[in-house]
Amino acid sequence: MREIYPGIHELILGTPEADTPSTQFFRRQPRPLRGIEPRNVPPPFQEEALRFHAGTRGFRVELPLSPDEALYGFGLQLKSLQQTGKKRTLRVNSDPVSDTGDSHAPAPLYFSTRGYGVLFDTARYATFHTGGNALRGNRRHTGQAGTIALTEQELYAASGETHPVIVDIPAARGIRLLLISGPTLRNAVQRYNLFSGGGCLPPEWGLGVWYRACGSCNQEEVRQLAAELRNAGMPCDVLGLEPGWQSHAYSCSLSWSRERFPEHQKLVDDLTADGYKINLWEHVFLHPTSPLAPAMEPYSGDFEVWQGLVPDLTIREAAETYTEYHRRTFTSNRIASFKIDECDNSDFIQSPWSFPECSRFPSGKDGELYHSLLGVAAQYAVEAAHRAEGKRSYGSVRSSHLFAAPCPFVLYSDLYDHRDFLRGVTTAGFSGMLWCPELRHASSVLDYLRRLEAMVLSPQMLLNIWSMPHPPWQQLDRDRNRTGELYDTGKQQFLAAATRRQFELRMRFLPYLYAAFARYHLEGIPPFRAVVMDYPECEELRNADQMWMAGEDLLVIPLTAEEETRKVHLPPGTWFDFHTGAARSGRITVSPAPDELTILVRDGSIIPFADVRQYCRKNCRHRVELRIYGNHPRPAWLFADDGESLCDDPEQFIDTVTADGKLSPLLRRRYECTGIARMTCDA
Ligand code: GAL
Repeated sequence: MREIYPGIHELILGTPEADTPSTQFFRRQPRPLRGIEPRNVPPPFQEEALRFHAGTRGFRVELPLSPDEALYGFGLQLKSLQQTGKKRTLRVNSDPVSDTGDSHAPAPLYFSTRGYGVLFDTARYATFHTGGNALRGNRRHTGQAGTIALTEQELYAASGETHPVIVDIPAARGIRLLLISGPTLRNAVQRYNLFSGGGCLPPEWGLGVWYRACGSCNQEEVRQLAAELRNAGMPCDVLGLEPGWQSHAYSCSLSWSRERFPEHQKLVDDLTADGYKINLWEHVFLHPTSPLAPAMEPYSGDFEVWQGLVPDLTIREAAETYTEYHRRTFTSNRIASFKIDECDNSDFIQSPWSFPECSRFPSGKDGELYHSLLGVAAQYAVEAAHRAEGKRSYGSVRSSHLFAAPCPFVLYSDLYDHRDFLRGVTTAGFSGMLWCPELRHASSVLDYLRRLEAMVLSPQMLLNIWSMPHPPWQQLDRDRNRTGELYDTGKQQFLAAATRRQFELRMRFLPYLYAAFARYHLEGIPPFRAVVMDYPECEELRNADQMWMAGEDLLVIPLTAEEETRKVHLPPGTWFDFHTGAARSGRITVSPAPDELTILVRDGSIIPFADVRQYCRKNCRHRVELRIYGNHPRPAWLFADDGESLCDDPEQFIDTVTADGKLSPLLRRRYECTGIARMTCDA
């Protein structure tokens, strides 16, 4: 066992494969450890505590697990937060139908409430039995003799015993393990993120409002939409163009459609001048008509997807060619961001579209390995095109894996269950990932309002209106929206006003969110995380998958349209209602109005609350009110770089503000304090 980073120990069991997530060239250097005490912590268990076996079936490892610990992680998991006592099959998949472990972005990595994590450095599909299966002779105690179960739930329930974690990796002969120490659960996650290269630091505009236009839009329609948003006073930073911007999709030509976008550069320039950033949709499958196809041909696998090549972006030259094409064609021409679609896989739908696991790629990888690696490889290749222009970016991606914390991309899905969408915010944070509970359409006004609110304090506020020609506030129903059956003026105005209010609220939290991302980058603290990460000792919070921490001090409790009220158990201490300052603690019932997101503030917080702006420009100045909750406020972070350039030394742009509201010269460059509001009311 060898310490390879403060508090991270490496252990090699058997003969690991050559192609693993950590051996791929696209990884970042670790960031220095910051914000964790003590620096060096012994490994959570000794080598002797692990057992492994290599055989014709593959590789098996057994790891200790005690009855009192709860496990989290395995990447984005939409179906459950706590991962203890389960069978998790980690396969990249865009359509997980139930709680099997399948995910857009699985990661062979778990963390324990005991304050440690274990990372399995493999791109293989692996199955984790997380304490539900008993090895013979390992029984701790027997179930009650003579109890006859009369429900299926009782019949198949675990007997209350906990067993080791068993990991089954059929295609491997060995594994490199990283044992990640805490001392706390949150510290262990921080160490993982810092070791991966630090959390991503999006440009400020990435944290604004996003609107994706309908896939069939032409240049005139995009212009109209952009003008309509500005006229309606809807804050919006990013306009996304869906497949129709290209001359061919699906698969992708990665070049503009002359019919729909004859003057695309003028469009991009005009919209950029009007404060918009343009995001382009793509997937990596290259249509034969793509100007990039000939160069990628020799680097492509032996299957096609949608008649397109599947380039192997784990080959350095292939990735560089992909990057350079993006730089030359797009990022040097003011394209600010990309959405990388369909880099996951599909098994559970009628017509699976992706390449099979038995595919072969020029790097020697098979389709199984490449399914795990493609999402991250594509993120690095595309991001490099922005870096080459000296810019940071923030995009969307449909798959990810290990070591992706520095990748400035947010995960999304076609699955649309709102509870799953909320849960995704809580699970992704355990594996260096970000998840967007995006809005596409809604089944009712309440569903719309609830989905909208839930994004205000999430990684991305995104209206993904790719399937509707009119803004959702004109018609929420997809079919009616498409046939132009719009609401009457009154209802449209009501919905537009409700939308604007939530967009504005998002913009008011921008400095707070930006600082939370700076902490993600510098200290590895996930900006959005399950409450259990901060309070692992609190049993009542171990399954809290419908609320989350946003930044250091805000607790967000979004409701779905199915609930009028919700009973929640608050973390220990006093919490204050963000808007009224009313104190709450213990077990409470929340019953917010339909257009009200419940936000609670940790005792002793200073929350910078900015004036509304429509969009962010480089070096824009925020006017902030400092809202103070509780009697002993701690200093709050603000981040004051120019908002979008690459910054090698982000430490120099961090400063804190205290309750007197005096800003340092550094902070005054970007912030102005307009007042101090003591929010706390007597309980
Ligand atoms: C889906 C994607 C949607 C939208 C659509 C366009 O795969 O999840 O967000 O982009 O493709 O065809």
